[in-house]
Amino acid sequence: MGRLDGKVAIVTGGAQGQGAGIVRSFLAEGAKVVIADIAKEEGQALADELGANTHFMAHDVSDEASWTALVEDTNTRFGPVNVLANNAGILRFGDIERMGTDEVELLWRINQLGCFLGMQAVTRTMRKNGGGSIINASSVEGLAGMAGCTAYAATKWAIRGMTKCAAMELGPKGIRVNSVHPGMIDTPMTRVHGGDAAMEYGASRVPLRRVGYPEDVAPLYVFLASDESGYINGAEIAIDGGVTSTHAFGG
Ligand SMILES: NC(=O)c1ccc[n+]([C@@H]2O[C@H](COP(=O)([O-])OP(=O)(O)OC[C@H]3O[C@@H](n4cnc5c(N)ncnc54)[C@H](O)[C@@H]3O)[C@@H](O)[C@H]2O)c1
Repeated sequence: MGRLDGKVAIVTGGAQGQGAGIVRSFLAEGAKVVIADIAKEEGQALADELGANTHFMAHDVSDEASWTALVEDTNTRFGPVNVLANNAGILRFGDIERMGTDEVELLWRINQLGCFLGMQAVTRTMRKNGGGSIINASSVEGLAGMAGCTAYAATKWAIRGMTKCAAMELGPKGIRVNSVHPGMIDTPMTRVHGGDAAMEYGASRVPLRRVGYPEDVAPLYVFLASDESGYINGAEIAIDGGVTSTHAFGG
């Protein structure tokens, strides 16, 4: 018996990084999984590797029509979607003085609007088919501040806030909505900003003295997707090695 037997999941940003880890873990626990991503080559290669209970679909989270097509295809292919891992996101650093409006808007469109559109797209199906679980990827930047991160953090705080409102609104319809707040996780997103040196620095700042890996994060998604978390709704869960436990003078 898998912990996600009978679940039909969409994982956005599922082609690589944390998303790919979530896809693998959902599949291992018995779910049928649609990998949704703009990265076509990586997404298709993962689906080919994992076999018939996965399917890749090219998808842009910031595009409403793309969501309609994704949910319709998932419902037809695997049955009504009852788990959404709203995981896709982008990271851009930039000083307030210098950051361009185009980059701020891109962050907003993909991270914040994308998360909203995802919740909107699956609600009808979940409501009509006995409920579901939506897991929104925020960040430690949705719990605390970091210099050079204002535009990104705005989207991650928005996701945390939207999660609370959605939990209130969708709870009566049997849909649970929770947010996940990873610390520094070793993925293409973070590696691009300084490689091994950045990972080593990051590790030195964490109480557990290491960065996280997609395999650390995926079990939390499995738990929140499963019926084991059936009374958890509107929660924000840090998965950060303890990095947000300090008031910054802690060291
Ligand atoms: N890596 C970290 O340290 C970290 C920490 C906290 C939160 N997060 C968040 O976790 C989530 C996953 O991050 P990751 O580290 O795996 O990043 P990643 O860059 O390794 O993977 C992100 C995936 O999202 C996809 N994507 C980007 N734009 C998209 C779009 N418009 N539509 C669909 N897919 C799109 C990418 O192609 C990629 O496959 C993100 O929301 C990120 O903000 C990451």
